[in-house]
Amino acid sequence: MCLTGGIIPPLVSGCQSTYYTQGSIEPNGISVPRSEFSYLKKDRPMTRQYIIVRNEQLEFPIYLYRFSDADYAALWMKCTHKGAELTASGDHLHCPSHGSEFDSKGKVSQGPAEDDLRSFRVFTDNDKIFIDLRK
Ligand code: FES
Repeated sequence: MCLTGGIIPPLVSGCQSTYYTQGSIEPNGISVPRSEFSYLKKDRPMTRQYIIVRNEQLEFPIYLYRFSDADYAALWMKCTHKGAELTASGDHLHCPSHGSEFDSKGKVSQGPAEDDLRSFRVFTDNDKIFIDLRK
């Protein structure tokens, strides 16, 4: 089944806006148009550092972090301590339940969580970013 890539309007969290998209479900994963990382600020083209992929077919959202045009991390936003949904803030993820922190590669930077976040392989082409959900 393929869902169209409708866009949920950006939400503001603190002083930084977090951009959400639902992406498009594909047979082995979910894809996001590259253009989701682009926006205009005072008519100047800008690039988002990360976006959140939130789709009703996914139990948790995915934090999609851009290191470069060809290098992304896709992280399952489920805390490895007791399973709470994480919040994103710039280049790190925070757990509101007990305070664990994870970096943009999913590594634990502060406990009580001991395990890194689940991450997915990411493939890119000229138009889209594909997150492989098979593992
Ligand atoms: S559930 Fe995230 S720190 Fe406990």
